[in-house]
Amino acid sequence: MKRSLRSLDAAALDGRRALVRVDFNCPVKDGAVTDNTRIRASLPTIRYLREKGARVILLSHLGRPKGPDPKQSLQPCATELERLLGAPVGFIADPLGPGAAAESRQTPRGGVVVVENTRFHPGEEKNDPALARAFAALGDLYVNDAFGSAHRAHASTEAVARLLKPAVSGFLMEKELEYLGGSLDAPKRPFVAVLGGAKVSGKIDLIENLLPRTDAILVGGAMACTFFRAMGLETGTSLVETDRVEMARALMAKAGSKLVLPSGAVIGEKLEAGTPTRSVPRDRIPPGWAMFDVDAATERDFAARIAAAKTVVWNGPMGVFETPPFDHGTLAVARAMADATATGTTTIVGGGDSAAAVAQAGLEDRMSHVSTGGGASLEFLEGKVLPGVAALDEA
Ligand code: 3PG
Repeated sequence: MKRSLRSLDAAALDGRRALVRVDFNCPVKDGAVTDNTRIRASLPTIRYLREKGARVILLSHLGRPKGPDPKQSLQPCATELERLLGAPVGFIADPLGPGAAAESRQTPRGGVVVVENTRFHPGEEKNDPALARAFAALGDLYVNDAFGSAHRAHASTEAVARLLKPAVSGFLMEKELEYLGGSLDAPKRPFVAVLGGAKVSGKIDLIENLLPRTDAILVGGAMACTFFRAMGLETGTSLVETDRVEMARALMAKAGSKLVLPSGAVIGEKLEAGTPTRSVPRDRIPPGWAMFDVDAATERDFAARIAAAKTVVWNGPMGVFETPPFDHGTLAVARAMADATATGTTTIVGGGDSAAAVAQAGLEDRMSHVSTGGGASLEFLEGKVLPGVAALDEA
């Protein structure tokens, strides 16, 4: 059921310490952030809080450290935030240290402080109440703007939200829920989902949840080959999940014409950039060859269906887009969606690989919404309750 969350602009902010969970889980190389998308996505919330005179204390994880690890420090993200804001950003290295709460209180009105990686503490991933209390001591109210981490029931996303009141959603969180939730609850029709990726096993719940809601589900990526096998087709050396063939057959029977598979494939003998390729109908994949992308006819078919849609949600690449020329089908979907946005279609890109492909194509600004959450957007579209959202206050 759709919940209406209490929003940031309903909270009293002036002079108060806003403990904000952001998702600054950004790639870092040689001590510098190499992709600041997630930091930029949090700026509207951070700027609003500063303007309203709040003292902004930011919590985030980075990577998957097993305890303190200087290589996975949040310091590079703090430096990048400082650059983006054009204002100094403080750093609390140890939120459990004796001076941490005092440091948060000394933050000036409108000031910003980043707290070191929440995952340096073993209690974070255990949703430990003691760690949540230590985090809560750093703020007077809680703001969750970390949609990308909302599928994790961790101390900084879940337990702390139950301790600090109010516990409200930030602007990025609101935007993510509005777009992704809107597509599930009240899509403009036709509503088309484009699903790809290597394995159908990771997309079963997604297909099940989308089937009754969508008008068509377009399937690309190696996961299409498990469906081909279910149709009795030769799939060569393509990736097929043999233990899922039965399930693929059942899904096809249930979905009927709603499930649209590629009509043909771009195949290769080896997965290497520049390897010789052939384009074949789906029932002509020879032994020794594997499908690494959808073919041009499929690109045209999918593009036409996207052009005719009023809502499009995309999750997962059409081929091995990291290895050209097998990026062609994925980029074709990205372009078709960008064109559809221009004619008034709501286009939503799930995070992770599809978002990376859209960024690679330079088309981020031509989508209605590109989610900052990979796992989180997948679980949301699967219809699962996100613990970080469930813990927030109702409007
Ligand atoms: C993500 O990158 O999807 C989020 O930051 C969550 O990270 P995690 O998968 O390590 O929990």
